[in-house]
Amino acid sequence: MQTLRVHDKEFEPYLSAAAISAKVAGMAEAINNDYAGKKPLFIAILNGSFIFAADLFKNISIEAEICFIKLASYKGTKSSGHVITAIGLDTDIIDRHIIILEDIVDTGKTLSEFLPQLQHQQPASMVIAALLHKPEATVYPIDIKYLGFSIPNKFVLGYGLDYDGLGRNLGEIYQLAR
Ligand code: IMP
Repeated sequence: MQTLRVHDKEFEPYLSAAAISAKVAGMAEAINNDYAGKKPLFIAILNGSFIFAADLFKNISIEAEICFIKLASYKGTKSSGHVITAIGLDTDIIDRHIIILEDIVDTGKTLSEFLPQLQHQQPASMVIAALLHKPEATVYPIDIKYLGFSIPNKFVLGYGLDYDGLGRNLGEIYQLAR
């Protein structure tokens, strides 16, 4: 098997471009069926989800909008630890049907902290579409309505996901070898 070296680690092919493409098209199809007439607003979480979001959105055939946000984490003043805020959410989400696009749900911490903040803004509905989920890594359970692949608890890269900045441009998904 052709392995790939990124920084100090070896990665091996895991999900082919064709398998990802077919899965993403299937997810879009399900969303097209569920959201016809609802003009959903997709909110893609950068950086990792940019390729997944673009490919999924190309397969959306109903009326829909998309925006991109970055999550910034900073130390709160209270003992509650750090706080996550969204940068770039300039669209009003009140009464909108929201579909969050995430590359991978790992421990679930990011979304478990961020989703309640969005709920405060009173969307009509809100669901998650994630390309990858590592169930074994779950610390904060997240309800994923549209899921691409359930994967083992191994580090992956490619198709938007990086290892220390590299690997986002790979068309397939690799996993840590050994
Ligand atoms: P969580 O808050 O633990 O669910 O982590 C979510 C974020 O961690 C994802 O959006 C990714 O940016 C990053 N992440 C988690 N696992 C991986 C991985 O295997 N490869 C690359 N990035 C990952």
